[in-house]
Amino acid sequence: MRFFGLSSGPGLQGEISIPGDKSIAHRAVILSALAQGQTTVKNFPLNEDCLATANAVKKLGIKITLNRASCQATVFGRRLLGLNRPKGAICVKESGTTFRLLLGLLAGQDFGTKLNAGDSLRHRPMLRVIKPLRLMGAQINSKMIGGEEYPPIVIRGANLTAITYRLPVASAQVKSALLLAGLFACGETKVIEPLKTRDHTERMLKLFKADLKVRGNTIIIKGGKELISPRALYIPADISSAAFFMVGANIIPDSRVLIKKVSLNPSRLGVVKVLNKMGAGLKIKRLKLSGRGNEPTGDILASSKILRGVRIKKSEIPSLIDELPILMVAACLAKGVSVFEGVSELRVKETDRIKSMLVNLTKMGAKIKVVKSGKQENIIIKGVKGLRAARVSSFGDHRTAMSMIIAGLAASGETYIDNVTCINKSFPAFLKTLNSLT
Ligand code: S3P
Repeated sequence: MRFFGLSSGPGLQGEISIPGDKSIAHRAVILSALAQGQTTVKNFPLNEDCLATANAVKKLGIKITLNRASCQATVFGRRLLGLNRPKGAICVKESGTTFRLLLGLLAGQDFGTKLNAGDSLRHRPMLRVIKPLRLMGAQINSKMIGGEEYPPIVIRGANLTAITYRLPVASAQVKSALLLAGLFACGETKVIEPLKTRDHTERMLKLFKADLKVRGNTIIIKGGKELISPRALYIPADISSAAFFMVGANIIPDSRVLIKKVSLNPSRLGVVKVLNKMGAGLKIKRLKLSGRGNEPTGDILASSKILRGVRIKKSEIPSLIDELPILMVAACLAKGVSVFEGVSELRVKETDRIKSMLVNLTKMGAKIKVVKSGKQENIIIKGVKGLRAARVSSFGDHRTAMSMIIAGLAASGETYIDNVTCINKSFPAFLKTLNSLT
């Protein structure tokens, strides 16, 4: 696909609404399935990953109706132990969040399930979830290669025992899988995070009246308590999708973009903090929640700015993990040097995002390198005056694709990006939304 540089104006101008938050949507469907009765999930994002979760939950015997026109999912939940053994394997395609959360959910079921994955997800590590779930009593067989475990996985639930588990890697997916398993365990499951990660599972569990306490970086859930549906909840727009437009507006001259009703969950605000440190001057208007939900929401206004280099510390990484590719684009066009510390987790996303962004941005004239410091990997970017058009690749990864499209628009000339259909994983309407601004 071809993108013409917009660096010589006109910029991105207008007001946009973007789809609901992908992370929140997975959790909303899963918890709604476990609470008796009907729950309406408003602003449900109709992307491949969230549809994979809805399909998986349907395979477990839960009725879900989707109204595509109004972006609404209605889930007919059947209590904590109301899931059925699926007919055949469940394939979650490329959705890593679906896969890991389902492992937690299935660990509590008294039947066996085979979980299958698409090509790229079959290469993503699962031992980080499997290990603690085995400690709780689940029986899990996977594909083992060199000390790591990968999909497909067969999981047979059990009478789970509560554990106290200190996560070796800061991962919201692993934490959430353990909290879901904790719903079925006898006693109190304690999960201790090395760094705080997104807390949508905790918020959603509280909304559904689970017995859950948060004490600093420790989350404690007591098993056996039935969930109570809030009946309806609204999913604010995904800040990870909004980030492409924030940076786009910042780096393309003559831009001004208003992004409506975005999730402002503090555990996801790293991108806003970092961009503002770079001089982005993002303006946020907080909104009162419409409908029921447990997530702060607001409008974000972004406009063209001269950005400066920034240092992102390792402790900030979980709050902006998915925004690192687009922040790399911003750093390339900022004055001075940027350092992103402790970014190794990027290597195990949909693709190795350190490699994909390094290869692509270097082709466009960026000064970017990766430096090892002990076990830690840091990215160092020296800002350049402008990026030049090039032939680049999505590497089959949605966030690399969208980041490179924004980079292409900020560059001079015509940039070609291959295989952008992977964008459907999180944001099928991305190009349409972008076109509405150009
Ligand atoms: C997610 C957690 C993060 C993130 C992913 C979504 C979630 O992954 O990168 O896109 O919804 O819990 P990790 O838990 O692997 O960091």
